[in-house]
Amino acid sequence: MAQTRRHFLQQVGITGGAGVLYSTMSALGLTGLAETAAFAAPTRADLNGRPRKHVVILGAGIAGLTSAYELLKAGYQVTLLEARKRPGGRNWTVRGGASETDLAGVTQRARFSPGQYMNAGPARIPQHHVTLDYCRELGVAIEPFINQNADAYLYREGTTALSNKPIRHRTAKADVYGYVSELLAKATDQGALDSYLTVSDKQALIGFLTSFGSIANKDGGFKYTGSGRRGYTVEPGAGTESGTTESPYALSDVFASGVGSYFSFEFGWDQAMMMFQPVGGMDRIPYAFERAIGGEKIRYGAEVLGLRNTSSGVEVTYTTGGRPRVLSADFAICSLPPQIAAKIPSNLPTPIVDALKYARPTNAGKIGIEYGRRWWEEDLRIYGGITNSTLDTGNTWYPSTGFHGRRGTVIGYYNTGTNANLYGALTPAGRLERAVAQGTKIHGEVYGREIEASFSVNWATAKHSEGAWVGWPSQTDGTYQRLLDPTGNVYFAGDHLSHAIAWQHGAMTSARATVTALHHRVVTSR
Ligand code: ALA
Repeated sequence: MAQTRRHFLQQVGITGGAGVLYSTMSALGLTGLAETAAFAAPTRADLNGRPRKHVVILGAGIAGLTSAYELLKAGYQVTLLEARKRPGGRNWTVRGGASETDLAGVTQRARFSPGQYMNAGPARIPQHHVTLDYCRELGVAIEPFINQNADAYLYREGTTALSNKPIRHRTAKADVYGYVSELLAKATDQGALDSYLTVSDKQALIGFLTSFGSIANKDGGFKYTGSGRRGYTVEPGAGTESGTTESPYALSDVFASGVGSYFSFEFGWDQAMMMFQPVGGMDRIPYAFERAIGGEKIRYGAEVLGLRNTSSGVEVTYTTGGRPRVLSADFAICSLPPQIAAKIPSNLPTPIVDALKYARPTNAGKIGIEYGRRWWEEDLRIYGGITNSTLDTGNTWYPSTGFHGRRGTVIGYYNTGTNANLYGALTPAGRLERAVAQGTKIHGEVYGREIEASFSVNWATAKHSEGAWVGWPSQTDGTYQRLLDPTGNVYFAGDHLSHAIAWQHGAMTSARATVTALHHRVVTSR
């Protein structure tokens, strides 16, 4: 009997319950939440008595850690070689006492107070990322990360009436949505869209615009005249106090200013609320992996000097404490950033090295500024979220944790590309000075007061990373694809080998794909 999709789902629902029904619907793409291909961790049973293989993993960043963790489920022998003295790679939480010397030889020491920290690399996790599944599996507690706040600011430089002053997201949204609604309602009402819309379409559209933009049809046409959505000069209060609103900004000023240009950020597949962060710092994830894997399997301070395919496996030369060492294993998973992997002497064929070199590193920079008073909460009533500006600081992040505490650490800039390079070229003190001058334009003099500590990272000059993430000129022209298959006994993994670059999810899904391919090869070998 031909089975209809509904019948099939009914059967799944009856036999498997709601959870199974939901995941089946997800797999069929029926929920609007597309899922990555199902992953089944390797098991010992699959090996069916075959000898245990040894896999050496270059890099204990998120891809390397995920690879090791999953391979260990089937009892593989794993050795991780990590150049740094800690797990996580770019997943780096800077706390007081941390010391880091960059490729330019500049050493910074973090003097954050106990409990204060900055996530220098990844800092937010969307709901659909497997990162959260690992948090659940590894027992890493999470809390909301506030990626959007109606009371945070937008700041646009320029020469328009609304330029060079902070405008609350809610005010900008009310005016942009209001005027767009007014214009579209007018056009609809006056017949400009009659060739596209039926009479009932027009009614439905106008109904939507009326609530979406808070517009009204009075005095001969649709009009946006502002609303409490913009905020109040006198807030509604007790008794007869109904609140005072201001008139909206003028339509042409609103559009000329560009204040609407940032709204689409929060529509993004990976940036829409809700988002999450581990309680206590993003590095709770790599440290939880380290615990699960067993710290003795990770050799810290191990810089890879050479990688060779041999007739029976791989040979990796590396150095710890200035002493060269050689490690032989059955397979290698290279999870180093491609721009670094390309420089390691190896017998990888030229097209593979060329593919590694094809990656284009992107720079990003961040500064954490610890304040002795949470003025953004006390004075401005901003509790978490992001102020976005066209200043070279880019984005200011207010902490999503520690509300009403005595101190707090603001991300004073999170920028990329040329803006990141501009700050990266300054000394740490110079970066703070510039960030404070820019932040003062938005927040006022308070921005420069009660600063207790700061720490900045410039990913382009971060040892063992040499970039924040990479882009590929193309992911479909065949070059990138060369790295998706093993070269002899060498496999590759990392967020750069995914379509979720610059996310831990990309590193984890790439690691899962690599582990799956390696395990398949082992279990199908004679
Ligand atoms: N995933 C990075 C971010 O959210 C790029 O900023």
